[in-house]
Amino acid sequence: ILAPLLATLVAYLIGSLSFAVIVSRGFGLADPRSYGSGNPGATNVLRSGNKAAALLTLAFDALKGYLPVMAVLLWGERFGLGEGTAALVGLAAFVGHLWPVFFRFQGGKGVATAAGVIFGLNPWLGLATLASFVIIVFFFRYVSLASIVAAAFAPFYELLIWGPSAAGFAIGAMGLLLIWRHGANIRKLMNGTESKLGQKAAAGT
Ligand code: G3P
Repeated sequence: ILAPLLATLVAYLIGSLSFAVIVSRGFGLADPRSYGSGNPGATNVLRSGNKAAALLTLAFDALKGYLPVMAVLLWGERFGLGEGTAALVGLAAFVGHLWPVFFRFQGGKGVATAAGVIFGLNPWLGLATLASFVIIVFFFRYVSLASIVAAAFAPFYELLIWGPSAAGFAIGAMGLLLIWRHGANIRKLMNGTESKLGQKAAAGT
């Protein structure tokens, strides 16, 4: 019981590293919580106009979900950790991103981190989910809409193709939390005020 608990705690702490804030500080940019949607995530960092910062945020936020899952899958066995713990650890990293202990529990929406976790738990599911995301972004240009649709599809792909599992449970839980965190985006999508991919934040917002 100690090893899975410790792994979960470490994953939560890693997930709590809000890379949108950290990378923006590194680049000398404004805090992403102060403009655009106010969300500490790659999509909002892109609204600063700095593509490199947005890409790095995306990469680091995804890796913080991917690496803890892979660490458990690759080296967990010698500590008695299996796929169930890998799923739990992924969920913990995701929860860390949403409620980061280092940032007064004010985190992001979990899109990049969930993607990293899914790729770690099931790479084929990762590809299918990413494909769904890319198709929606391509046609509609809303990252939020694509994230919501991909998050809704992922648990169904997993359940229908691979059957029920701990990974499926974690992916379903992440999907629900992710969609819930997009409440403001859903309202903006419905009243037509959601900003499209790459649209810069208006000055002073
Ligand atoms: O990265 C999360 C994305 O789905 C929405 O972000 O900043 O438009 O609320 P944002």
